[in-house]
Amino acid sequence: MGKKIQDIIIFLNETTSTNRYLQDLSQVEKLMEGTSVLALYQTAGRGHDRNRWESERGKNVLLSSIFYPDVLPVTKQFYLSEITSVSILQALKEETDSFDQKAASEFSIKWPNDIYWRDKKIAGILIENVIENNRIKQSIIGAGINVNQEKFVSDAPNPVSLKQIFGMDFNIHLIFTRIIKNLHFNYIKFLKNELPDIHSFYMDNLYRKDGMHPYQTSDGEKFYASVKRIEPFGALVLETEDGGEKSFLFKEIEFLE
Ligand code: BTN
Repeated sequence: MGKKIQDIIIFLNETTSTNRYLQDLSQVEKLMEGTSVLALYQTAGRGHDRNRWESERGKNVLLSSIFYPDVLPVTKQFYLSEITSVSILQALKEETDSFDQKAASEFSIKWPNDIYWRDKKIAGILIENVIENNRIKQSIIGAGINVNQEKFVSDAPNPVSLKQIFGMDFNIHLIFTRIIKNLHFNYIKFLKNELPDIHSFYMDNLYRKDGMHPYQTSDGEKFYASVKRIEPFGALVLETEDGGEKSFLFKEIEFLE
């Protein structure tokens, strides 16, 4: 394919949002594929559903990276979620494994692209795509990873940080570098059509991949089910107690405790 992914890194003390920063900069100049930003603080960090992303100044990884995956039809944009989730999960495992192997084995990917530790959220991902002619012309991949923050004040339901889990401070730059390295590596794999590897890693590390668990649909229906598979376009397929299959898109289903 001959694409070259660049290791151009921009460090910022403060910005509105790293996704927004790359978005604005990309309007001014054509950014090299792989250009990444790490910020210490965001004044308007964004999560899903117009939620704010809480992050105390200097305590966490707040990053974005820009890609031009124009080989990818819109129907397969979920691949970007897989690549990103897998890259972050791998980085967290690599970083923590030598301190506490058991705890490091308890990170997982909650469909579609949250990173969890046990039943708590340690990282969130926000991918913003520009679509043209049914292809993904540009993708800004943003992620917030809770690293050294000890108290969370927003109403985010279940945040957790590395410090809360492992009882020590971690180096933000090192974690950022690991994530970007993995992201570039996995993105190149994807360009070379080596997605099955990434998909199987995603499935092997899926939150609640085994056993029956409670779910609730956006219409309020509650039921128990197990994860059957994830479709290439990202739908979660659950198998209910009577053996039936139900398929859901993001926001159509909630995981209950
Ligand atoms: C979520 O709601 O789970 C997604 C959160 C994504 C937060 C990150 S922090 C870096 C990047 N810039 C933003 O404004 N949001 C993402």
